[in-house]
Amino acid sequence: MNDKVFVFDTTLRDGEQAPGNQLNMVEKIEVAKALELLGVDIIEAGFPISSPGDFDSVVQISKAVTNPVICGLTRAIQQDIDVAVEALQYAKRPRIHTGIGVSPYHVISKLNSNYDEIIERGVAAVKYAKKFVEDIEFYCEDAGRSDNEYLARVVEAVIAAGATVVNIPDTTGYCLPHEYGAKIKYLMEHVPNIHKAILSTHCHNDLGMATANTMSGVINGARQIEVTINGVGERAGNTALEEVVMAIKSHKLGVHTGIVTPQLLQTSRLIQRLMNSPVQANKAIVGKNAFAHSSGIHQDGVLKNRENYEIIDPKDVGVDESSIVLTARSGRAALRHRLVLIGYSIDGEELDKTYQEFLRLADIKKEVNDSDLHVLMRKEKHEEKRAIKLESLQVVCGKSMIPSATVSLRINGEVKSETAMGDGPVDASYNAVKKLIPHTVRLQEFVIQGFNNGSDDFGKVNVQISCNNSVYYGFGADTDIVTASVEALIDAVNTIG
Ligand code: KIV
Ligand code: ZN
Repeated sequence: MNDKVFVFDTTLRDGEQAPGNQLNMVEKIEVAKALELLGVDIIEAGFPISSPGDFDSVVQISKAVTNPVICGLTRAIQQDIDVAVEALQYAKRPRIHTGIGVSPYHVISKLNSNYDEIIERGVAAVKYAKKFVEDIEFYCEDAGRSDNEYLARVVEAVIAAGATVVNIPDTTGYCLPHEYGAKIKYLMEHVPNIHKAILSTHCHNDLGMATANTMSGVINGARQIEVTINGVGERAGNTALEEVVMAIKSHKLGVHTGIVTPQLLQTSRLIQRLMNSPVQANKAIVGKNAFAHSSGIHQDGVLKNRENYEIIDPKDVGVDESSIVLTARSGRAALRHRLVLIGYSIDGEELDKTYQEFLRLADIKKEVNDSDLHVLMRKEKHEEKRAIKLESLQVVCGKSMIPSATVSLRINGEVKSETAMGDGPVDASYNAVKKLIPHTVRLQEFVIQGFNNGSDDFGKVNVQISCNNSVYYGFGADTDIVTASVEALIDAVNTIG
């Protein structure tokens, strides 16, 4: 039997609650629609009584999405439930998520109550909510630090009162995976009416165990997981949706989710952007380096058979091959593979030559991307047929100095050098080039741009020159912008007939 594990996303409630993660209404709707596309089963849209913003968020998200269940959080208090019912009035499939603390910390020192009274309050809340909404989820707050026997009594009572899902939160992120799994197993085996409800995991990441604990819960019988995109949430965050979903997909556990996994990267990026919280480069599944094999041995292995070094097909989570970086440690095979992907087919000597150029560039740039490779290939191709080639360039410039440049050009096989001054390093270099070339040219247009970003970026230069009443165009690119400028001028000069 292959059971479905329902995915309950709380990015917009537990995730948004964390400092710095607040979204405006337009952004919340954008996230809710992205979650719907991703295929989540339940969206926790807010805690309606907590603020007018949260109330409105539940109302607007209920109107904006169709497929997922829309859930509103409450405490086990009638007024909270009344407000949630009102906020959920437009939801096609509403759910109320009510509950109370069950650990000794919560029962005694937070709620100043006793264990029997907590059960009564929980049962009363479920019965009250059930009058308005059929789908009721009950959370046993701080279940991670509660006694399993008592927890079983709570779970049995709220299911008898009408709860259809019972949430077992490890609120403080305290549990170890085997403990959390044993808790779920205990409940599955000791709650007589457990077959009438689904147990849900809700793990926090204070000890970095959220994903492991959630998986342990699923392995032991939980059939709903409460998660957030990128694991956003208070303190160290909640369980990351993408991690558990891909762990379930990658292992034969007899369970599946309905998540459309190729949407994962896009959804992750949306949350990173809107919440202004980029994930670390080595973050599982959605980090920039999650599929980046930069060492030659790994790249070669992956090219021979992806599964040599990859347990997940990058495409399966929405990563295309172009995000795999090439570095100075990449081998010829990886370079060739990437060149083929972007439209250049080279082998033998040509590949050797390009590889040497690539290594020179990778030493300067650290990571070589597709735009860099296009420039490299363009340079290689043009180098062959050029009558004039730049041999060397030396520039002296700086504050309170008169810029000067010494340029050496190979013109029809013969190397010649000249030095000139100018009002900047590019002007000085251009004046030196003009002394060397056999034509009289005038610069008409000069445009310089970066490719991507960063101070190690390629500068690309486009020029327009005139000579004998005709116009010629040239292009140059280099990590040194003065070299790129001179290359662009020489490129244009080479086209003069
Ligand atoms: O962590 C927690 O216990 C919660 C509950 C309110 C579900 O977020
Ligand atoms: Zn929580």
